Amino acid sequence: MTRDAAWTAFHQAAAEAASARIVDQFAADPDRLARMSVEAAGLYLDLSKQSWTKAAFDACLDLARASDVEGRRAALFAGEAVNLTEGRAVLHPALRAAPGADFKALGEPVSAEVDAVRADMKAYADAVRSGAEAGATGRKFEAIVHVGIGGSDLGPRVVWDALRPLDPAIDLRFVANIDPRDMAEALTGLDPETTLVVVVSKTFTTQETLANAEAAKAWLAASLPAEGMTKHFIGVTAAPEKAAAFGCGRTFAFRDWVGGRYSLWSAVSLSCGIALGWDVFERMLAGAAAMDDHFVSAPLERNAPVLLALAQVFNVDGLNRPARTVAPYAHALRRLPSFLQQLEMESNGKRVHRDGTPVTRQTCPVVFGEPGTNGQHAFFQQIHQGPQTVPAEFVIVAKTHADAPEAPPEAPLWSNALAQGQALMLGKTTEAAKAEGLAQGLSEEEATRLASHRTFAGNRPSTAIVMERLTPETLGALLALYEHKTFVEGVIWDINSFDQWGVELGKVLAKAILKDVDAGGPSADLDPSTAALMTRLMG
Ligand code: F6P
Repeated sequence: MTRDAAWTAFHQAAAEAASARIVDQFAADPDRLARMSVEAAGLYLDLSKQSWTKAAFDACLDLARASDVEGRRAALFAGEAVNLTEGRAVLHPALRAAPGADFKALGEPVSAEVDAVRADMKAYADAVRSGAEAGATGRKFEAIVHVGIGGSDLGPRVVWDALRPLDPAIDLRFVANIDPRDMAEALTGLDPETTLVVVVSKTFTTQETLANAEAAKAWLAASLPAEGMTKHFIGVTAAPEKAAAFGCGRTFAFRDWVGGRYSLWSAVSLSCGIALGWDVFERMLAGAAAMDDHFVSAPLERNAPVLLALAQVFNVDGLNRPARTVAPYAHALRRLPSFLQQLEMESNGKRVHRDGTPVTRQTCPVVFGEPGTNGQHAFFQQIHQGPQTVPAEFVIVAKTHADAPEAPPEAPLWSNALAQGQALMLGKTTEAAKAEGLAQGLSEEEATRLASHRTFAGNRPSTAIVMERLTPETLGALLALYEHKTFVEGVIWDINSFDQWGVELGKVLAKAILKDVDAGGPSADLDPSTAALMTRLMG
């Protein structure tokens, strides 16, 4: 089937499915749950509450085949230049492969180098934890300040929040924002003699990170002897020469075939490897590698990242639903939505195909979310009763907290996630709402007046992703699942998921505005609005 024919069939099936009730599909297709749920690398995915009928589900799979998902997947893992606009391979899976793997980037073997950097990271992490690697005054490091932004921040942050012990031996704090308040908060209460600053930047040119690194360096230099200060100031980057020139003591490197938003598996998460303990980091890599094995080997119809991607393409392009909310029902996963915002929206927020021609369909939806059940008490009103349908995704952890028998049960948490999926699917009719009002003792008139306000359209889709526990392995698998899902969507939309030219214009204009500020005020060619704002802000 050609790609065009597959899209035509896809849209046809979507049009037919648009009026179907999700709940009725279970009776219409007794194998629905088995067909639309899958287990992989410790995760269970249930996509049976999505809006697709069996015919639409099959049309989605045909679209994946016609888009050559299998061929493009092979190209990625083979280290071909899938990042066309930057001429780079995209090989984050190489970073989590078991030692001795044989990945090649544009034909160059890279796994030995990956293993060597990983061994270096382990030795350093163990040394910092044992105190063998100590500060300039000989005192053990007790805190790490991780300085980075975007992919050099969001990945390590989601890992730390997800896996950190309640009372960590080494405190890990993150600074991303160029607002000096962020650094001030992070340094509060820290002692320079026992603090390690890790400056993380793939390019080592990012304005925010360099400004924050300068501030951290000054804070250290104010208290520490020049001799030994660099023991407290290390770099992680794909541009080691720049980090050295900036004054970093030692630098851990990664290569340009690692995209920023795909870099948490590299030295970018060194601070986590130190603060969590190296074995925890290794277990997370192993969990992600297990998801890689599944992604590479499972047939499309039983492939978790592929099915998750198809559900999104079906909602966005089949049913015109350009948003998705992600609700992790685990406090430790509270940062997952912001991690996914960069992963998905920076990858697939594109308006041209790989060949540069304009897209004719929607691409990445707006992704947003809050942990469950917090979101329920915030924006779920709109998810349930807003005029537009926003597909939901519930990431559910059966056991989120301590094993201690006295620990509060978790059923109150996950029962809410299940209830949200049910409520979105089943809804409530106006008749039922009225009957409920009457049953609550409302008058006929009052029950009738309120009934439409208390009606739920229902027939709203959701996906459940379930894990028994949030372990390093299941976290690794979960994040790798989303990476591969994002890749598959990019293949189907025929866009380059691995560049991010869209972030550059704002950076250039910010520099020009700063130049004007240094020059004393807005330049003549600035638009009146921006000029007035600058004048106001310059005071
Ligand atoms: O501006 C966007 C971006 O380039 C992201 O893609 C990247 O993750 C982030 O900035 C930080 O970049 P770097 O790691 O080079 O400092």
